[in-house]
Amino acid sequence: MQNLTATTVPQHVAIIMDGNGRWANARGLPRTMGHRKGVETVRAAVKTAGELGIRYLTLFAFSSENWSRPAAEVSDLMGLLKTFIRRDLADLHRENVRIRVIGDRSNLRGDILPLLVEAEETTRANTGITLVIAFNYGARDEMTRAMRRLAADVAEGRLRPEDITPERIAATLDTSGIPDPDLIIRTSGEERLSNFLLWQGAYSELIFVPELWPDFTRETFLAALEKYACRERRFGGVTEPTLAVGS
Ligand code: FPP
Repeated sequence: MQNLTATTVPQHVAIIMDGNGRWANARGLPRTMGHRKGVETVRAAVKTAGELGIRYLTLFAFSSENWSRPAAEVSDLMGLLKTFIRRDLADLHRENVRIRVIGDRSNLRGDILPLLVEAEETTRANTGITLVIAFNYGARDEMTRAMRRLAADVAEGRLRPEDITPERIAATLDTSGIPDPDLIIRTSGEERLSNFLLWQGAYSELIFVPELWPDFTRETFLAALEKYACRERRFGGVTEPTLAVGS
């Protein structure tokens, strides 16, 4: 961990947890077993992130496009998320974890929404790491909902078009109040963002690791953070060359 210090540990890490299905297929198991193992990795990743002093960990749990998967798999993923909240909420709360959920809540059915709200409400005042669960989330959908809200404010005279600034847009997104991710990690060797945090990730460092999500260990996480620590972030600017004294 030679490059990891308090100043090089990112404030916000977001993860696209990919490869559960392939992990299960490789073992001749049903895909759901991959998701189950994936939940264990989630627990370990939250623990590692908290220990390292990462302030925000965002996990892409279910995308707005995942509804197109076979009904049994969708139902299994919902079940896993519900079980995770029911079983782990007390532990997470005790560990001072604050939970935020991003994504479209408008059409969620059954007991999932009350559970998500309960997780947020219970942990609202916690001061440790914030675990951001992206559920029924898609960046284009998030931006569309935000634009509609801003357009309605303009139409009803509450807002002038010139008051729509990047800051105002950011504050209207689901991630309002959460700093942009410094680092986005995707597992399983796929190298794309898949509609994840497209606005917030404008200047994020991207790291793609070959490990499938169930195989994402503490060591894999640390190696990605070390790689991040060596990156130079310029945010569109330039790095001033060091001037020699007297030149
Ligand atoms: C991608 O693997 C993973 C998902 C679509 C779901 C991730 C969900 C979990 C790990 C469990 C629930 C989450 C929480 C926060 C408790 P894939 O199925 O697309 O894998 P493949 O590309 O190999 O098919």
